[in-house]
Amino acid sequence: MDEAVATASPDTSLADRAGSLSPVLGRYYETSWSHGAGHRLYDTAGRAYLDFANGIACTILGHAHPRVSAAIHAQVDRLIGPTGAIGYAEPVVELARLVAGTLPDPLDTVFFLNSGSEAIEAALKMARRVTGRPALIAFEGGFHGRTYGAASVTTSSLNYRVGYEPLLPSVYITPFPRVFRDFGGDEEAATRTCLEHLRRLTSTTVPADAVAGIVIEPVQGEGGYFPAPAAFLRGLREFCDEHGIVLIADEVQTGYGRTGPMWAFEDAGIVPDAVAMAKAMANGLPLSALATSRELQERWGKSAHGSTYGGNPVACAAGVAVLETIHDEGLLDNAARRGEQLTGGLRALMAEDDRIGDVRGPGLMIGVELVDPSTGAPDGALAEAVKTRSLDLGLLVLTCGPQHQVIRWIAPLNATPAEVSEGLELFGEALRTV
Ligand SMILES: Cc1ncc(COP(=O)(O)O)c(C=O)c1O
Repeated sequence: MDEAVATASPDTSLADRAGSLSPVLGRYYETSWSHGAGHRLYDTAGRAYLDFANGIACTILGHAHPRVSAAIHAQVDRLIGPTGAIGYAEPVVELARLVAGTLPDPLDTVFFLNSGSEAIEAALKMARRVTGRPALIAFEGGFHGRTYGAASVTTSSLNYRVGYEPLLPSVYITPFPRVFRDFGGDEEAATRTCLEHLRRLTSTTVPADAVAGIVIEPVQGEGGYFPAPAAFLRGLREFCDEHGIVLIADEVQTGYGRTGPMWAFEDAGIVPDAVAMAKAMANGLPLSALATSRELQERWGKSAHGSTYGGNPVACAAGVAVLETIHDEGLLDNAARRGEQLTGGLRALMAEDDRIGDVRGPGLMIGVELVDPSTGAPDGALAEAVKTRSLDLGLLVLTCGPQHQVIRWIAPLNATPAEVSEGLELFGEALRTV
C-alpha cells in the first residue's frame, strides 16, 4: 500500500487559482491533479492515489498507457485533422473496422462523434428519421447526457431538467427495474412489473406505432448502478420487434468490457438496433460513436447528420491502440476476474457492516449502496463521507444514485489482483474510520 496511503489532506492549491473557471461545473473533489501513471493519479503535492474512478469510466487502461500514448504521439506528428468532412484518414477507417468487429451482426456501421451526449443525440435523431415516428421512450433514473435531446431522456436527477423546459416533446418515461431498491431483490417481479408499465404506457398514453425508439442503459450508471435483469432486456427486444421500434442501447458507460463482456447487452443475449458508445473508446480523449446496421444508416440518409470534430484522427489512433490492447492482453477476461475479486471483497465487508445494503455488479461496474441500517433507507451523507475519507486514505472512488448513496467502483480493465486488494483494504479502512 506504501505510497498510496495518504497521511494528510489532498492538495487543493489549484482550486485557489481557479477564479476564472466557471463555477457551474460540478466536481467530486477539489483536488489539484498533477499527472497520472498506470493506476495512480498524483496530486500537485506529489501524493499518489489509487484511481478506481478513471475519469468516470474513461481511462480503462490507466494513465499514460505506453501503447496508447505512442499511438497518440505518432498521429499528432502525422495529422491532427479533423478530416471527417473532407475525406478519410487511416486511423478513422481502421477504428471503424475494429469497433464493428466487436459487435454482433448486423451491427457493422459506425458514425463517430465526440461525447456520449452526441452519440445519444445521433441515436434519437436517427430513430425519428428512419421510422418517421415522433415518440421516444426512456427509463426512470436513466442518464443519457446534458444536451437537449439527451437531457430530455434523462431522469436520474431533477437537476438535469429543472429550468430547461420545454425539453424535447413526445418523450415518455417508464419505470426501470431497480431490483434491489424497488423490488426487494426479486428480479422476476421487477421484470414483469416494468414490462407491464411499458405496455400500459403504450395502451393509454402513446401508441406503440408512434414510438420511434426506446433508449436504455443495460446497467443504469449515474442513476445508481442498477443492472437491468436479462429477462427484462429480452422482453424489451421482443416489444421493439413487435412494434417496429428502434432499440437503442446506451453503452456509453457500460461498453468496452466494463461489465465483463465487450457490451453489456451481450449478457442478455440480445442485439439492439443501435449502440451509443463513448467514455472508454480513446482512454480519455474525446471520442464517441453510434453503431447500427448499414441498412439503418443508409435509411437515415447521406448528410442526415454530421460533426466537425467527430472521429478525430488522434482520438481514433488512441482508439485503435485501446482495442488492440484489450484484445492482445486478454483484458475482458481480466476485467471479469478482477470484478469477481472486488465484488467478493465488498460482499465480505457487507457481511460485517450493516450500513452496506447492497453490493451489485456486473463485472467491474460495481455499486455499493449505503443505507441507514435501522430503516434500509438510502444514506447519501454516509456515502459522501466514505468517498471523502477514501480520498484522504489514497483511494479515488465516486458516488452515484439519486441520493448519491451508492459508491461506484470503476476500476481499470487491467487492474492487478494486488491493486484490487489494496483498494478493498483502503475502502474497509474508510468505512471503519468515517
Ligand atoms: C450512460 C451515459 N450516457 C451518456 C452520457 C453522456 O456522456 P458525455 O458526458 O460524454 O456527454 C454518460 C456520461 O456520464 C453516461 O454515463
